[in-house]
Amino acid sequence: MSIAFTTPAELLDVLAGARRLCVFSGAGVSAESGIATFRQPDTGLWSRFDPLMLATLEAFQRDPALVWGWYEWRRAAVLRAQPNPAHHAIAGLAARLPQVCVVTQNVDDLHERAGARDVVHLHGSLEAARCSRCAAPYAHPAGIPAVTQGGERMPPPACAACGGPVRPGVVWFGESLPMQAWARAEALAREADVFLCVGTSGLVYPAASLPQQAARAGAAVIQVNPDATPLDGCARWNLRGPAGAVMPALLAALG
Ligand code: OAD
Repeated sequence: MSIAFTTPAELLDVLAGARRLCVFSGAGVSAESGIATFRQPDTGLWSRFDPLMLATLEAFQRDPALVWGWYEWRRAAVLRAQPNPAHHAIAGLAARLPQVCVVTQNVDDLHERAGARDVVHLHGSLEAARCSRCAAPYAHPAGIPAVTQGGERMPPPACAACGGPVRPGVVWFGESLPMQAWARAEALAREADVFLCVGTSGLVYPAASLPQQAARAGAAVIQVNPDATPLDGCARWNLRGPAGAVMPALLAALG
C-alpha cells in the first residue's frame, strides 16, 4: 500500500536538527510485517486471546504448556516475518542524524534485523528465554517451532542447569520491567530533543509515560499512528498514517 505523505516543513527542520533522537516503538511498527498487534479490534491478540490465561506468571505456573506453546507460536510468526519499510527507515535514520536510539515495547527482533544498532527492549524478547527457577539463559534450537496455531500446547523445555521449566523471555502483566533497560529508556527520553512515537497505543505503563517524560524535558514529540491515541495531546505533530508509509517518507525528506 502506498500513501502519499507530505512532511510539514517545520517538522522536517526539527527532525533534521535533532542531536538526540529517541524512537519509541510499539506493535504497530511490526503490523505491516504481518505480526499481530495487541489491541486492534478483531486482529489484535488481546481480542482473540485472554492475557490472564497467557501473559502472567500465574498462568505459566497453572498451565506451562499452554503458555510456552503460545509464545512459540508467536516466535514462529516472527521467524517467518521480514522487517518492513518502517523498520528499515527507522534503522536508516542513524545514518542521517548524530544519535538515534530505539526504545521498543516489541518482543520481536525486527528492528535489529533491519539494521538498527542501539535497541532497548522494554518488554523483553521472544529469543531471550530463561529458566523460571534459576534464571539461566536458554538457547532455542535453530529452526522454526512446529506450533501452527495459538492455543496449541507445547511443554516447556527443562533447564540444563537445574531442571526447572524454561519460560519465555518477555515481561508479563504484574512483572517489573528489566531495570537497566528501563533506566536507560528514561534517560534517553529525558535527554532527547526529538522523541518519535511509532505504532503504540500508549496504554501500557510505565512504557507509556516515556513520551510525557520527554515532552516535559523539552523534546519535540512526534507521533506516527493511523489512529488517535492518548499520546496525541503531548505530541507536537500527529502523523496519521501507517508507519510503513510515513517513516520512509520522513527519511526521504531528510535527504
Ligand atoms: P497495541 O496493540 O496496544 O497498539 C498498537 C498500535 O499500533 C495502535 O495504536 C494502532 O493504531 C497502531 N498501528 C496499527 N497498525 C499500524 C501501522 N501500520 N503503523 C503504525 N501504527 C499502527 O500495541 P502496543 O502499544 O505495542 O506488552 O502495546 C503495548 C504493550 O501491550 C505490548 O508491548 C504488550 C501488550 O500487552 C507486553 O507484552 C508486556
